[in-house]
Amino acid sequence: MKYAIVGTGSRHKMFRRAVADTYSRENTLVGLCDVNEHRLAISAAAVAAKGNGIATYRAEQFGEMITEQKPDTVIVTVPDYLHHEYIVEAMRAGCNVMTEKPMTIDLDKLKAILDAQEETGRSVTVTFNYRYTPARTQLKDILMSGAIGEITAVDFTWYLDRVHGADYFRRWHRYKNQSGGLLVHKSSHHFDLVNWWLGSSPVSVTAHGRRAFYKPETAEALGLSERGPRCHTCPSADRCDFKLDLEGNEPLRELYLEAEDHDGYMRDLCVFDDDITIEDTMQVHALYANGATMNYTLCAYSPWEGLEITFHGTKGELTHRHVEVHGVFGGKQDKAKGSESMTTTLHVAGQAPQHLDVWAGEGDHGGADPVMLAHLFDPSVAADNYGRGSSYIDGAWSILTGIAANTSIETGETIHIDRFLAENGIKLPQKKW
Ligand SMILES: NC(=O)c1ccc[n+]([C@@H]2O[C@H](COP(=O)([O-])OP(=O)(O)OC[C@H]3O[C@@H](n4cnc5c(N)ncnc54)[C@H](O)[C@@H]3O)[C@@H](O)[C@H]2O)c1
Repeated sequence: MKYAIVGTGSRHKMFRRAVADTYSRENTLVGLCDVNEHRLAISAAAVAAKGNGIATYRAEQFGEMITEQKPDTVIVTVPDYLHHEYIVEAMRAGCNVMTEKPMTIDLDKLKAILDAQEETGRSVTVTFNYRYTPARTQLKDILMSGAIGEITAVDFTWYLDRVHGADYFRRWHRYKNQSGGLLVHKSSHHFDLVNWWLGSSPVSVTAHGRRAFYKPETAEALGLSERGPRCHTCPSADRCDFKLDLEGNEPLRELYLEAEDHDGYMRDLCVFDDDITIEDTMQVHALYANGATMNYTLCAYSPWEGLEITFHGTKGELTHRHVEVHGVFGGKQDKAKGSESMTTTLHVAGQAPQHLDVWAGEGDHGGADPVMLAHLFDPSVAADNYGRGSSYIDGAWSILTGIAANTSIETGETIHIDRFLAENGIKLPQKKW
């Protein structure tokens, strides 16, 4: 299969290596495209180092790239608010698409993707790596076995620490019109997991959210009143636990600081700026088509990082806890190691709780990324019993909870998904589980 990639920033490396390196026997990388010629050149050089010449194209030459290189599939790894543009153009030019999450960030852009998909019949794969984390696949396995009976309710909390969480407040993610806010950008992973675990989709959504921490008042309280617009030139940087050192971190310096002259994209804007438009504290309540309900919390300034989830069922309860980072001390993460940081407990009513051996794997995102890449790029990998592959339908349902939650935060109302879609002229097929 022939692939081209648009967006040669941080995330594209995983796909580039998979196509041009790990799975290069079955696949060929035929083109790279980016608005920033510096990042484009770094990526092209990495492919060339493997003995592979690669054609590069500026953003406005995306169409030329497709005409000249004829990729079967375009991989989209640009910022979230641009996904729809490339997804639609690629499908209209006859290509299939593989896109990073979130598939897109609002209903107008979702409609553009759904219309182009219907017109062209092309496939859109959304690369939900979180489904492939072995410990989360194990939860699916247990739920599929019926061990806790009918799932009636879910309590789900995701904790982002003050290094990783803060990073969403430094660049394009921090503007709702560029990322959809964390309820779309980040939580689409989590809401996708819930859709998949439950084998269902949301019917109604209510939410509250606000920016409680990453704001000027917090900087004042921390004694950081003399602040610059970015860490690189900030007079308080040496006293700030939230500092991102672009100069001192070689990969970040090369990819972002040295690329700034081309597009002015700054990777280290101050996390306490007034112009941030996303929330850092969010709670969502959702009802699903199968009758289950979910309470969900996302906090972006926790003292530790990880997740806790409990599934309540008619026969018992399943609980999973994953500590990824024990804590942040002086701006540094104390990362948890190995599978001992994860616990899964199955408590069938009337029996003692069973503390299960948690399924584990090596690699990024809790061992998820290598498993997903094998499923995406190695044709010899067997069909998946867990239905982890995700189409545009999964992509759409995964963002709907967050888009509806954003509207609920704005209006104070409960959002009924059927009506929400109909009012916006969107027909979305139900996922068949
Ligand atoms: N699944 C995951 O775990 C995961 C992890 C990280 C990022 N992501 C997703 O990957 C995507 C990219 O994130 P990132 O961290 O690499 O961002 P990034 O800012 O590092 O990279 C984005 C790249 O897109 C380029 N770009 C910007 N505008 C463009 C345009 N109009 N045309 C062509 N190229 C353009 C930028 O120059 C940059 O090189 C996002 O959608 C993000 O949500 C997913």
